[in-house]
Amino acid sequence: MKLLDGKLISGQIKTEIAETVKRDFLDKGRNAPHIAAVLVGDDPASHSYVTGKEKACREVGFISSVYRYPSQITTEKLSEVVTFLNNDPEIDGFIVQLPLPAHIDEQKIIQQIDPCKDIDGFHPANLGKMMLGLPSYLPATPFGIITLLERYQIETRGKHCVVLGRSHIVGTPVSILLSRKASFGNATVTLCHSFTTDMPSITRQADILIVALGKQGFVTDEMVKKDAVVIDVGIHRVPADDTRSGFRYQGDVDFDKVAGKCSFITPVPGGIGPMTVVSLLQNGLKAAQKEV
Ligand SMILES: NC(=O)c1ccc[n+]([C@@H]2O[C@H](COP(=O)([O-])OP(=O)(O)OC[C@H]3O[C@@H](n4cnc5c(N)ncnc54)[C@H](OP(=O)(O)O)[C@@H]3O)[C@@H](O)[C@H]2O)c1
Repeated sequence: MKLLDGKLISGQIKTEIAETVKRDFLDKGRNAPHIAAVLVGDDPASHSYVTGKEKACREVGFISSVYRYPSQITTEKLSEVVTFLNNDPEIDGFIVQLPLPAHIDEQKIIQQIDPCKDIDGFHPANLGKMMLGLPSYLPATPFGIITLLERYQIETRGKHCVVLGRSHIVGTPVSILLSRKASFGNATVTLCHSFTTDMPSITRQADILIVALGKQGFVTDEMVKKDAVVIDVGIHRVPADDTRSGFRYQGDVDFDKVAGKCSFITPVPGGIGPMTVVSLLQNGLKAAQKEV
């Protein structure tokens, strides 16, 4: 078994981005790419994700801004913030950190983002372009998964990829990317969800198994074909007596059981998490280069 080391690969990509920022922006007297995040409420996970994204921006020489609002903000007020960012020429691209509080119309907010600044790739215009194989911002986690497969030269053409979970941000877009007529696509894809019957009989057929369920330790060795490639998107903070912090991170895959059976596997943490952050930076760079 070999680890698909998202921390290592994302570090390499950050170095490449930092070089581009220097060469194409700073050395030419242009401002560095500037990306922003809108953060609503006090959800600790959202705060920690945004802090991680700010840190990554600093590492590659981007300018970053965070617009923080209390959870009571209305959809109308948040809409005004999005309009302001759409029109601010200083900002190349921005994200609205999800999930938003339940009273906010999330789709209305996403659809109001200028597609040219939608570096999360969640706007229907970007998702539609992705479907058609046109240049667009790809959603960060699926983009990170494809990039990791590409950097490890794991062939997807003609392979059976099984994706567990059909969320709009992970499962559905990654299933589309893998089945596209494109390099690191051309796979035969099966997409599973909560109405799928006898899931283990399907996962055992997977050459490449991508797990994005949000269910800790769901995938065990009996569900995996020998020498499969296993990508674990899930991330769960679980209490642990033997760590200084008192917790550790685990994925949707039972790593200890599955690692001995597969050919490649992503660790949690250090797999898809850092690839997601670096994919957002890649989208930020595209936005600053006006490529979309
Ligand atoms: N590492 C990262 O950067 C990153 C990024 C995004 C998400 N994540 C993590 O990835 C996981 C998934 O996130 P998400 O946003 O895609 O989740 P989500 O929106 O909750 O979607 C979960 C999907 O899994 C399906 N599902 C759940 N339980 C199932 C079961 N027992 N059997 C079959 N299908 C089941 C659901 O089916 P239905 O559609 O039928 O309900 C749904 O399609 C979470 O742990 C999340 O924290 C990590």
